[in-house]
Amino acid sequence: MANLMNSPAYEAARKKAEAMLATMTLTEKTGQLSQFGTSIYSDDEQTFDDHFAEGKVGSYLTIKGAARTNSIQRALMKATRLPIPALFADDVIHGYRTTFPTPLAQSCTWNPEMTRLCNEAAAKEAYRAGLKWTFSPMVDIARDPRWGRIMEGYGEDTYLCSRFSEAAVRGYQGDGETIGKDHVYACMKHYIAYGACIGGRDYNTADLSLQTLYDVYLPPFQAGIDAGAATVMSAFEDVNGVPATGNRYLLTDVLRDQLGFKGFVVSDAGAVTELVPHGFAEDIKEAVRLAFGAGCDMIMAGDPYNEYLPALIEEGRITMEQVDRSVLAVLTLKYLCGLMDEPLVDESGEDCFFSDAHMDIARRAGREAAVLLENNGILPLTPAAMAGKKIALVGPLAGEEGKGHLLGGWACLCDPAHTVSIEEGMRKAFGDTCDILTLRGCGVTCGNSEEEKAAEREQVRQASEAAADYDVIVAVVGEEAGMSGEANSRSDLTLTGCQGQLLEALIATGKPVVLLVSAGRPLILTPYKDRVAALMLIWQMGSEAGDAVADLLTGVVSPSGHLTTSQPVCTGQVPIYYNHANTGRPALGRWPFEAKYRDCQIAPLYPFGYGLSYTSFAYEDIRLSATEMPQDGEITVTLTVRNVGNHDGAAVVQLYIRDLVGSTVRPVKELKGFEKVFLQAGESRELTLSLPASSLAFHDPGMNLIVEPGKFKLWVGEDCTDERFAFDFEVI
Ligand code: NOJ
Repeated sequence: MANLMNSPAYEAARKKAEAMLATMTLTEKTGQLSQFGTSIYSDDEQTFDDHFAEGKVGSYLTIKGAARTNSIQRALMKATRLPIPALFADDVIHGYRTTFPTPLAQSCTWNPEMTRLCNEAAAKEAYRAGLKWTFSPMVDIARDPRWGRIMEGYGEDTYLCSRFSEAAVRGYQGDGETIGKDHVYACMKHYIAYGACIGGRDYNTADLSLQTLYDVYLPPFQAGIDAGAATVMSAFEDVNGVPATGNRYLLTDVLRDQLGFKGFVVSDAGAVTELVPHGFAEDIKEAVRLAFGAGCDMIMAGDPYNEYLPALIEEGRITMEQVDRSVLAVLTLKYLCGLMDEPLVDESGEDCFFSDAHMDIARRAGREAAVLLENNGILPLTPAAMAGKKIALVGPLAGEEGKGHLLGGWACLCDPAHTVSIEEGMRKAFGDTCDILTLRGCGVTCGNSEEEKAAEREQVRQASEAAADYDVIVAVVGEEAGMSGEANSRSDLTLTGCQGQLLEALIATGKPVVLLVSAGRPLILTPYKDRVAALMLIWQMGSEAGDAVADLLTGVVSPSGHLTTSQPVCTGQVPIYYNHANTGRPALGRWPFEAKYRDCQIAPLYPFGYGLSYTSFAYEDIRLSATEMPQDGEITVTLTVRNVGNHDGAAVVQLYIRDLVGSTVRPVKELKGFEKVFLQAGESRELTLSLPASSLAFHDPGMNLIVEPGKFKLWVGEDCTDERFAFDFEVI
């Protein structure tokens, strides 16, 4: 696939980089491989000037704003011998200033093009603030919602995550030959299998078979590399005993030699020196040797490469060729993005922050990200139907106080002041047609003292008493922004604080409760599922959350989001994912000795792929192009999707397969294709989904990638459990 990393412009940039490399001292070379955080850019001008003068700074992270990046860049350019500007990077995960839905929420759109748009807008804002590089996308498969970082990725499915991975990369980097203005380099992370950390505990070990590594965790990285991803971040954790950051097999043999990655690898923050406490390296020098020798080109953050690489070269334990190869990769990207010619950024460009165009993308993405899980017919609450009626909007995330949390974690330079609360969105949407009362009800969390608990209970009592007089209750509960993301693993996924009590009290009023859940991860909603009038996951939607939610509640648009993570019944079910391997004793409920729990079903509360709409769709005239295909062949599935309801809406057509018998046990289902199609009420469209035999490939016990002949089932459905339209085919 033609992309940035194999363009003629890349080759030209590399030539320039080679010429520059030939003029560099070793100190200047190791400097290019060293990234610094804000700590080294302290008020201590001397420390910082020394580094610049010696050429010891290649990159910076977390510096905010054009003025600040420019002032550092100017100082660097003035002090340094060679004109090599620093590459500024930051965690622009779901927006720079305008905040888009979290990546997990974005995945629920099942619309990778929407993610491309969000990332393109994020890249533009980031570029205008002086950045050339973002530490995103996170393409870790996440099967365990205890892991707080589940909010940063695209869910549990490899195929879906791969499609979002390529869209995310294209959004950040653009589709051009060079990165150009208003784009930034992507950094796929966390290489690799970080989502497999045991117990969902951040930084923890991952222990997984090579088959799982290759078939489940690597494909999203491959997809991003094929789309031209310029950089990769090595993960913190050890994979099968060897820390990812010191893992030569993974960073060189697999990433470069097998996946064809041509850019450079940056360590996660501190991951190189952490090889020491990890028990993998005796001291920092050895950690540098192991990480750099493994293929970790740049260190985040600090001086260890500057300090130890020269001695390691001297001792013959690292070669100059290795250093040159890494420096060349960094310099090539500096030339390719125009940084070498234009180190400074135009400080007047920041007027695109929160522009109408970006806010519009945020609103559209929010509308598509929400997943409607229950609706007894109460939704949509149109302004006409609510005329003269009263809505009680209750919960810690409903009003002004809660709106910052709707932005979610990792929201870069987000601004609650530029965020539309649910209350604001509702008031705008309903105008004077109905009376809206907003009540906090309780906090997302609650203090531990008896007084604090009593105060919260009293608020719950007062809120539910007041809400009882209203026609409809809209409750907004969930997580605070800081409860998911890095270092936010949870052992219990039930609602925190008094939120559960609040919901019980609201349900007890007998008034219809529309439950909106804003969170970074799936939470346990089992107690409320059948007792509320409607239930919608709104995730953390970003700057336009309130408007997008109001659009959905009032029926301006129909919900079209579908789950990309299985929604667990209880925390004890996790890790939970639909595409698990079969067992010799599947849980079919035939006898006691099956792979099941004695105290809980094994099926999730809501399955992967599930999501309701205000309309409904008929799948008609489904046909396969063939019922047999050779190992290098392709089958196409053609169908007509018809909107048979009264609302316009978008269907998410999903194609699953099951390989019935394999030389390694196959998953019970696997997503192999999907398409989202918007249809007006009554409209229909013919779709064709292709299933190349190559997409059925997996690694056999000898780690050969094979497409095995045999019988398969195929389903076209609305979620992973939908088996109404089942077909058989065979690979011959
Ligand atoms: C640590 C996180 O794991 C990583 O995702 C992030 O990009 C870096 N810190 C930089 O902030």
